[in-house]
Amino acid sequence: MNFSYNSGFKIQNLSLKIEENSIYALTGNNGSGKTTLLRLLVGLLKPESGFIKIFNEPLTRNKKELWEIRQKIGFLFQNPDDQLFAPTIEEDIGFGARNLKLDEKEVKKRVLWALQAVNLIEFKDYSPFNLSWGQKKRAALAGLLVLKPKLLILDEPFANLDFNAIYNHLKIIENLKREENMTILFTTHNLFFVENWAKKMLVLDNGKSLYEGEPKEGLNDTQVLELLGSYDKIREIIKND
Ligand SMILES: Nc1ncnc2c1ncn2[C@@H]1O[C@H](COP(=O)(O)OP(=O)(O)OP(=O)(O)O)[C@@H](O)[C@H]1O
Ligand SMILES: [Mg+2]
Repeated sequence: MNFSYNSGFKIQNLSLKIEENSIYALTGNNGSGKTTLLRLLVGLLKPESGFIKIFNEPLTRNKKELWEIRQKIGFLFQNPDDQLFAPTIEEDIGFGARNLKLDEKEVKKRVLWALQAVNLIEFKDYSPFNLSWGQKKRAALAGLLVLKPKLLILDEPFANLDFNAIYNHLKIIENLKREENMTILFTTHNLFFVENWAKKMLVLDNGKSLYEGEPKEGLNDTQVLELLGSYDKIREIIKND
């Protein structure tokens, strides 16, 4: 698949296949194209050549078909301010489920469950804009969980979260994954999650694939390590002598 922005940035010859019911990590430096690739996958951007298939269906620009496929996908934006818009957290979390025309009783049940799961019940009547970053991210995740998507796409799900929130998020996602046979695609700069959570990873270098395969093997690859850098390099400039 190929894609380019007017700015000149290009996604080049990229091909990836995500196994159903698995966990796939996308990593690479800032500006390497991770978010762009996710936008292509959910149909927010259109490839110039090549194609995308989701659940064995080609992703078309036909509105009706795109809508049907999008119903099975939960997409967590990198920036929660791009995702939250309703007057209250409770309404925001229920929005997607109402859009799917789920029964109102079912929506209420799921919203309550999701509010409890992400620990935001006491904030349910708050405006999303008055929450902290981590709370916004949790609210955005809750809005996806109520949809019980088949494919959960998470753009930097753990960035700026405290360890307890990360633990909580992972627990919820893992539970849902088991119950709903969910497939997960996430981007991160945190190699702990690449190594320990993902079954497969793709490393992007300026819009091109540098490595695709087993995380453990990839994280020992000298080219990958050179590209991504490490705390060792950082330690060199902060060492106290
Ligand atoms: N709407 C846009 N129009 C033009 N160029 C864009 C647009 N969005 C992103 N870019 C450029 O495309 C490149 C890839 O951006 P992208 O957001 O996909 O990177 P990323 O890997 O997600 O980075 P980060 O780790 O910072 O989230 C960057 O050089 C960026 O400036
Ligand atoms: Mg990004």
